[in-house]
Amino acid sequence: MKITKTSISRLNSTDFSNLPFGTVFSDHMLVCNYKNGKWSEAEILPYGPIAMAPGAQVLHYGQSVFEGMKAFKNNSDEILLFRKDENFKRLNQSAERLSIPLIDKNIFMNGLDELLKLDSAWCKKEEGYSLYIRPFIFASGECVKASASDEYTFIIITSPTTKYYAGEMNVVVEEHYTRAPQGGVGYAKAAGNYAASFYPTKQANAKGFQQLIWTDSVEHKYIEESGTMNIWFRIGDTLITPSLSDSILGGITRDSVVTLAKDNGIKVEERKILISEVVEAFKNGTLKEAFGTGTAVTVNPINTITFREDRMVIEAQEDSFALRLKTQLQGIQKGKIEDTYNWNSKVLNAVKS
Ligand code: COI
Repeated sequence: MKITKTSISRLNSTDFSNLPFGTVFSDHMLVCNYKNGKWSEAEILPYGPIAMAPGAQVLHYGQSVFEGMKAFKNNSDEILLFRKDENFKRLNQSAERLSIPLIDKNIFMNGLDELLKLDSAWCKKEEGYSLYIRPFIFASGECVKASASDEYTFIIITSPTTKYYAGEMNVVVEEHYTRAPQGGVGYAKAAGNYAASFYPTKQANAKGFQQLIWTDSVEHKYIEESGTMNIWFRIGDTLITPSLSDSILGGITRDSVVTLAKDNGIKVEERKILISEVVEAFKNGTLKEAFGTGTAVTVNPINTITFREDRMVIEAQEDSFALRLKTQLQGIQKGKIEDTYNWNSKVLNAVKS
């Protein structure tokens, strides 16, 4: 793989005490192009602007998919990548749905390894830090005909990060707009899913909510996701999360939490959930917790849920399932708790920092 190192690292001029999510990028990026029916050899370059034709299809039709994954540094200065096989699998599932050619496994895996070796110092081992990794593929062919492109670009960039959300999470149930319809692309990490969510989210923000609860596109009765997270409810001592469908993203954190919860002896139900069931549970005092899960947020408690005129305030629990599962998940990710599931893979020979 051709590697061109930056001549001026931004590492020492980066303020690691102030990292608003997704705004600071490490020194290098991996780039790989698809042309004439095949992916070329990947290359590592200094992070920076890329040349793109104004006629590039992604700019007109949004043919683009991405992943979100995280690396952590353990106390021995080793970099641990969390469930990279799952991200690879999901990237290609998304690519297939968006009619994007699948990326080769060795391009993805070797690319990640080389990039993380080079930029390992951007992954801090202090508590609370991780390196958010953003692989993405977009249609770079130059053509404004509404059709799948012949050319694509695959890029991996990385971003040192701490928290995604700071402060309370007050959510409102959205009964008009939809994140994803049945038969659509909701299960894929398609860029356009996120673009379509911004307008309804802004309206909710203006009313003082941090995020929405998305409901099904047909009846707006069933709960799907919250913001960019999978959503969970603890009713009594059972954890319930919507079952996966073509309108719900199969979160890797969601899957990890299902596994951890079951291994904690917690009853987990993956099934359809009516909003009315959550309201009923709140009224009869059995709604004990609500939280979201996602790569960026890990596990994020929901403080209030507003449904029409009613605001349900969810009091913090002493024995919070969310907190317990978050602590365990983060402990595994940081290499502090034994990784009995083999979720982590070490980036070998990363330069120590
Ligand atoms: C993630 O959790 O990785 C996501 O995809 C959320 C993102 C849009 C920041």
